[in-house]
Amino acid sequence: MKITYIGHSAVEIQSGGYSLLIDPFITGNPVAVQKPEDFKPNAILLTHAHMDHVGDAVPLAKKHNCPIIATFELANYCKSQGAPNTVGMNTGGATDFEFGKVMFTLAFHSSSIEGKYMGLASGIVLTTREGKKIYHAGDTALFGDMAWIGKKGLDLAFLPIGSHFTMDPEAALEAVKLLTPKQVIPIHYNTFPPIQQDAFAFQRAVESQTSSRVVIAKPGEAHEF
Ligand code: NI
Ligand code: MN
Repeated sequence: MKITYIGHSAVEIQSGGYSLLIDPFITGNPVAVQKPEDFKPNAILLTHAHMDHVGDAVPLAKKHNCPIIATFELANYCKSQGAPNTVGMNTGGATDFEFGKVMFTLAFHSSSIEGKYMGLASGIVLTTREGKKIYHAGDTALFGDMAWIGKKGLDLAFLPIGSHFTMDPEAALEAVKLLTPKQVIPIHYNTFPPIQQDAFAFQRAVESQTSSRVVIAKPGEAHEF
């Protein structure tokens, strides 16, 4: 499995011949070094309706005729914007796709576009065909039910550390203790002035207090897992 951190919360997961994009905020992303043209997604997954997460989802879905998988209201919004194929889900059980299973989890955050309610903000648990379990927390505060998500046995967790809109590094450290993932990639930091953080300090704290490893991914950089 190859993971490319595009920057902010945008990631590409390549597994079993499929390319999956989560929260593809590429155009206008101050830290991204890649362009939408660099990706050929088979599916796009969205955690919530804020534009630093929806990003290029609709134009990429149109260009590659791939589904957008999101919570119900956001999927409908994407359809209204011209997305050719949307799958509207909600928090709860996992749904099977050709590339693996997708489950939407809680996230303590909001989800709206221009003041219009877009359903719950969510996190995503993706189980690849190869059996890897990946949790993308989206934007969220710390919550105790992360312990339940962790019971699934996570190989990798993408956790926001930027503060202001989401967990800060201290809360994200507690999240790691609840989730107990093998590896952690910090996201949603150093994109904009209010979310500047020291990822290396977070790495030191996590690796000294837990058995999880932190991979600090630079935008555009691919990592094998
Ligand atoms: Ni948000
Ligand atoms: Mn955000």
